[in-house]
This record gives sequence, structure tokens and C-alpha cells, in this order.
Amino acid sequence: MNKKKIISPSLLSADFGNLQSECEMINQSDAKWLHIDVMDGVFVPNISFGFPVMETVKKHCKKSLDVHLMIVEPEKYAERFVKAGADVLTVHLETLSRPVEILTEIKAMGVTTGVTINPDIKVKELRGIVRHVDMVLLMSVFAGYGGQKFIEETYNRIDQVKKIIADENPNCLLQIDGGVNLENAPQLFAQGADVLVAGSSVFKSVNPQETITQLLHS
Ligand code: DX5
Ligand code: ZN
Repeated sequence: MNKKKIISPSLLSADFGNLQSECEMINQSDAKWLHIDVMDGVFVPNISFGFPVMETVKKHCKKSLDVHLMIVEPEKYAERFVKAGADVLTVHLETLSRPVEILTEIKAMGVTTGVTINPDIKVKELRGIVRHVDMVLLMSVFAGYGGQKFIEETYNRIDQVKKIIADENPNCLLQIDGGVNLENAPQLFAQGADVLVAGSSVFKSVNPQETITQLLHS
């Protein structure tokens, strides 16, 4: 069962020369969230964007900003991201020196707090963690780039995460990020994903707004 069905288009695949109009398209669409991928070139082999871009997006976008931090020591910057307008803030378990303390600190900042793992991290590492967060983001590609192919093993991992969520924190949302498209979205929702991130399948489509609607109803 899904608690909600939310589409969170990933800004990474948007046209950065037209950020304002991309935000306006999102405002008019069925997307509830806008996914913001922040990469530091250290935790992942790519660098995306930081606060100035995020502040611009916050000014133009009326939807909740869903910030996915792919950076080392995220605790150093969490508060700044909240001040810059993050409504949802997700950090990688791999980057947390003191997972429970750091996640609890982020939660106290009043944002929807997410924890995520890359495809090579065992789902069981989330035991004891899920009770402290509002959302688990299960990566369905290795964090770092848009436009990668969905990893099929994700379907098995979803079932494992759903068990931990049921045991520890039934209200916890499940988000899937990487290679999500109109072909795999129905299965992901059917398995109980609540939030689907979609970058290239939305922004590279002929009609992004229509694609968001189709994803939502898939
Ligand atoms: C990958 C990012 C994703 C990415 C998704 O590191 O976390 O959010 O933008 O893009 P697509 O949907 O194209 O795989
Ligand atoms: Zn992401």
C-alpha cells in the first residue's frame, strides 16, 4: 500500500538556462515535490549545484523542495539547506559518522528527514535507523548522474525495505530515485513506493507536464 503517491521531478535534468520557466512548469504540474540533487565531487564523482541555484529555485517554485544531499559530512551544511528552503532533506547513510544523532538533529530542524543508501549497501543496514526518519530513499542507480539505467534488483530491495518500515516505523515514506520512467513506475507504486523521483524521463520528454501526470496515474 502507498501512503501517498508523489512525483518528484529531478531538477538535474532541467534546462538551467531557463530555470524560472522550468519552475513554472513544475508549479502547473501534478508534481507535489521538486527533487534537488546536490553533489560535492567527493562522495560522488560529479558536482551539481549549491545554495545560489537552490535559492533561485525556492523563489520561483511553489512546490516542496526535496533536497537529496550527495555530500560528505552533510551535518555541516544541513542547517543551511533548511534555511535555503529545503522541505525534505535526505542524506546518505554512507556519509554519516553518527547516523542516529545526525538524523535526529536534522529532524529537529523541522524538515521531512530522509535517509538513503546506494545500491551496493545492504538494506539490513537500515535496521535501527528507519525508526528515526520520515522517509527512506532507495537508490535505484548509483548516485552521481542523471539518465542512468534502472537497476532491476531494486524490486527485491523494495520488499526488504518495506519489511523494515512495517516493523519500525509504518508511517515512514519510501522514495525511489534513478532510472524511473513510465515503464517501471506502475510496478514501483504497486510494491508500495510512495515517492518517485524522475529526471530524464520527465525533462527530456516531449511534454514534461503531461509525463508527470502519466507517472502519477501509472
Ligand atoms: C542521481 C540522482 C537522481 C537523478 C535521477 O544521482 O540522485 O535524482 O537526477 O535522474 P534520472 O531520473 O534521469 O535517473
Ligand atoms: Zn536524487
